[in-house]
Amino acid sequence: MLQDERVPFVQALQRSRRAAYPPGEFVDQESFVLASEVLTLARAAGVAPGVAVLDLCCGVGGPGRLIAQELRCDYLGVDYSASAIEIARERAVNLPCRFEVARVPPVPSGPFDVVLLLETMLAFPDKVRLLREVSDVLVAGGRFALTLEEGQPLTPQERDAMPDADTVWLTPLAEMAQLLADVGLRVCWQQDLSRSHLTTADSLLHAYAAEADQIAAGVGRRPLDELLSAHRLWRDWLGSGRVRKFALVAEKL
Ligand SMILES: C[S@@+](CC[C@H](N)C(=O)[O-])C[C@H]1O[C@@H](n2cnc3c(N)ncnc32)[C@H](O)[C@@H]1O
Repeated sequence: MLQDERVPFVQALQRSRRAAYPPGEFVDQESFVLASEVLTLARAAGVAPGVAVLDLCCGVGGPGRLIAQELRCDYLGVDYSASAIEIARERAVNLPCRFEVARVPPVPSGPFDVVLLLETMLAFPDKVRLLREVSDVLVAGGRFALTLEEGQPLTPQERDAMPDADTVWLTPLAEMAQLLADVGLRVCWQQDLSRSHLTTADSLLHAYAAEADQIAAGVGRRPLDELLSAHRLWRDWLGSGRVRKFALVAEKL
């Protein structure tokens, strides 16, 4: 994310986000993943009534509320942004959801049947520690379900162009499969989301540009410019194949 204080961003971006996603696909996600992709991934990971789910880096909890509502799992979401968690709690009344403010790692102690990490693997420079701890909190046969920003690490020039580049650490798919295997997690399901996320990135870029003055009034001109620059880069990189997006499920052996 480009922001710490979530409320002004959520308010300023809400209208354009709602306009950018296809009907029924916007559920307050702060990312490129569609609601239908969240549900497909959650179902592939075996999320169902009574299943204990930990959602790392849940943001304002849109995807979490969706799966808790649709699949009636026992859901815990964590995020280091206190303001995001406050919004998540407000919006989750009457759902089987709990939320905690926590920086990851450490991963909250389990056991859990499923750990989710949506649209945030790229923020972790040290993936080895994160994956070891995810594996540790899963029951035997438990599943880690994630989306992956896939590709070779950014070059110095690419890092210069990307706002907040210290939260953008890409990983090649084969390397991620090996890192998962090293901690006893075997990839058992995957889906290529690149084309869909290209469409979403492009659509968000146009929606933000169309509402630029109103967004700048809410969050400031510089954050808006960074938001537009970042989306332009994701659109270009997803379009050229420089970055691919995958949904993965890895089972604990
Ligand atoms: C791109 S948003 C994705 C939010 C949510 N998963 C979604 O798809 O809508 C990334 C989230 O990760 C959180 N985050 C990033 N690094 C974190 C860390 N080390 N520990 C906890 N939360 C983190 C940010 O505060 C932000 O809410």
